[in-house]
Amino acid sequence: MKNQLDVLIIGSGIAALQLARLLDSALHVSVITKSVIRQSNSYWAQGGIAAVVDRNDHLRFHVEDTITAGRFHHSYREVERLVEEGATTVKQLVAEGLPIDRDEFGHISLGLEGAHRMNRIVHAGGDATGRHTIEFLLEQLPEQVQIIEQEMAYELLLSVDRSTCVGVKTKRRDGSVQIYRARHVVLASGGVGAIYPFTTNQTMLTGDGIAMAFRAGAEIADMEFIQFHPTLLYVNGETKGLVSEAVRGAGGTLVDEAGNRLMEHVHPLKDLAPRHITAYEIYKARANGKDVYIDIRSILDFEKQFPTITALCEQHGISVADGLLPVAPGSHFLMGGICVDTFGRTTIPGLYAIGETANSGVHGANRLASNSLLEGIVFGRRLAKYLNEQPQISNAIPIFHYEEKIDSEKIALLSKSELQQRMMEAVGMIRSGEKLQAHLHYLTESGVNDWIKKGIDVLSHKEIEKLFLFINSYLISYPALLREESRGAHIRSDFSIEEESWMGKRIIQTIQHTWIRRGFCESDQTRIHA
Ligand code: SIN
Repeated sequence: MKNQLDVLIIGSGIAALQLARLLDSALHVSVITKSVIRQSNSYWAQGGIAAVVDRNDHLRFHVEDTITAGRFHHSYREVERLVEEGATTVKQLVAEGLPIDRDEFGHISLGLEGAHRMNRIVHAGGDATGRHTIEFLLEQLPEQVQIIEQEMAYELLLSVDRSTCVGVKTKRRDGSVQIYRARHVVLASGGVGAIYPFTTNQTMLTGDGIAMAFRAGAEIADMEFIQFHPTLLYVNGETKGLVSEAVRGAGGTLVDEAGNRLMEHVHPLKDLAPRHITAYEIYKARANGKDVYIDIRSILDFEKQFPTITALCEQHGISVADGLLPVAPGSHFLMGGICVDTFGRTTIPGLYAIGETANSGVHGANRLASNSLLEGIVFGRRLAKYLNEQPQISNAIPIFHYEEKIDSEKIALLSKSELQQRMMEAVGMIRSGEKLQAHLHYLTESGVNDWIKKGIDVLSHKEIEKLFLFINSYLISYPALLREESRGAHIRSDFSIEEESWMGKRIIQTIQHTWIRRGFCESDQTRIHA
């Protein structure tokens, strides 16, 4: 056997590194990334970490803000745990030396973002919180944690009866296949932002963890809920990266080209309304032929407060001194993912998921700003505690092999850019039954149902990514068609109302079936499709 590990972590964002640093030093741990260690969505996160650290704030306020923004589609128990453990975890990180920003009196400086009733965002280096947090976690990584870069995990190793996960197959850049056996395999590989042409995500965010878990038979849920961030820098018909909500928290306002404010009469929180509301207003203005800007003229020392955004603007020929940043919405965060319990356990023993890859019930139908880094540090820590307590049992059992191999020539013919355009058109911010049906027809014609049952060893990195994007496209589009209502980030032009009858119902998908499940418990579920 080539490699035998205790814990194998796929991905290198905040959840992955928080887990890796807190695992027992007696455990043999590897972190595998298909890119390089400092190339993750977490690394580039601008916002910060939402946490109740101010004495005027209250855990209940943070819980309520989270649930209101996510339109009551949560596990309330998990939201309470996130907020409570989150406050403790942030305070611990600060005590351990996380270099957060402070005011002139040494108090933690707290930012404001959309749908938070008060300043609650802990940040570091202004808009460079992700980079500072990742560097801090990397410094703390124990020596026994091995980091493997440029190696793409593409298939979970299963026992012969496909009941248990016992490792993973990876592919190096030179095409060679590696086999890792592990007692615990953790998917922390982020979301699927790269499925859209307009996105804040890194291009390698192709939903690999979700596609692998789905192919292996795990339950996947809530995939119709994709958050579009309202403000991506928009230059020459393309989006160029995030302009943080913290800019509006510091006084920036959304205006059209004539200077009219977009959010003045739309929502009581105006420019800091929940993201799905702000993004929708910008979408409508742009669809009516207007250009949209963030007016930053009232923000003092913009360059100092937002060095990352200033650099991004300069890189693309936009002068912050002019005071108007052109923006458009783009995909940002996946609320759905692999179903997990409170420890991050999936429905397959031996397989775990944390961070954006997981569907833990904390984000509902629309994530509250800066709750994602929070989720990463909380679930990373909780899973570390759980794994540290597990007995050391060997899983050296025979593994399952696919009988048939995929037809690589067919995969080579598929076009990633065509898929991205179709996703934006049919499964973007505003959806309709008609367009969703047409898109699902296109996916079926492409062969998506066939690929989930075949071995993919023969494919290259790029082809595997493409295949995973197509699988995720199906996983997003099918529940988007089934959910005949608008809730949070899922907006249907033909069902524009948030329906009482859909309240608390989640669409669960596996390779065999699709179900509707009420809430986060196993009872009361209806099978839709076999
Ligand atoms: C932002 O800075 O606007 C994004 C932060 C987040 O998504 O939580």
